[in-house]
Amino acid sequence: MESSKSLNECKCRLAMGRKFVVGGNWKMNGTKQQINEILSFLKAGPLNPDTEVIVGVPAVYLDYVKTNSPANVEVAAQNCYKADKGAFTGELSPIMLKDIGVNWVILGHSERRQIFGESDELIAEKVAFALSNGLKVIACIGETLQEREAGKTEEVVFRQTQAIANKVKDWSNVVIAYEPVWAIGTGKTATPQQAQEVHKALREWIGKNISQDVANSIRIQYGGSVTGTNCKELGSQADIDGFLVGGASLKPEFVTIVNARQ
Ligand code: 13P
Repeated sequence: MESSKSLNECKCRLAMGRKFVVGGNWKMNGTKQQINEILSFLKAGPLNPDTEVIVGVPAVYLDYVKTNSPANVEVAAQNCYKADKGAFTGELSPIMLKDIGVNWVILGHSERRQIFGESDELIAEKVAFALSNGLKVIACIGETLQEREAGKTEEVVFRQTQAIANKVKDWSNVVIAYEPVWAIGTGKTATPQQAQEVHKALREWIGKNISQDVANSIRIQYGGSVTGTNCKELGSQADIDGFLVGGASLKPEFVTIVNARQ
């Protein structure tokens, strides 16, 4: 009964045509030597060809990884600004990323929100600007532990998504990463049920507040202590279309996570 239910869910997802997408967010980690080791296990794979794989690389190594990564792995920046060029010391523009062949950017990560004080509004502006310059965006949202315990999870993720919806009309190059802050780097993964509950509620919200087409087609990744051990069950949930992986993306088990749906 259970297995026929999950088979039906899989069929339904395939019908929606949402390709599984797994991102590795390296954050501020890696030296050239470590990066070469990561590139070796990515090359050795094998990586499921039905999964889109993207690695989020520290800015200084973007060009190196772009040049040396296998063709089935795409490269993302971990941030970029909302201007073409100018007096913005320390920032990167979407034009620079495109110039070196980088097609993806991660925006709105909770570390950018919390440590660097990025607001919903700024993140939405950056998402819109990156899209208008031809980048694809992994837009991150998620509640803190305090917000979850106060029963505000949905309110928070809807608010964060609404801010983006105020500035973005075409969602075809957006992947949403739902990353509960309390699960990031803590080893405390959301249970598959907890994650699925938020993904489903978010998809329904998108259906009502953006459009049913966007709700059906947009891919929603889960992020927060995803490992080679928990990825299969998380990845079998109907509304989980991939992962954004931090710590485990630096290790060979990332290959297992990419292949979670196999
Ligand atoms: P961890 O997988 O290390 O919990 O990090 C998740 C994350 O923040 C990915 O963007």
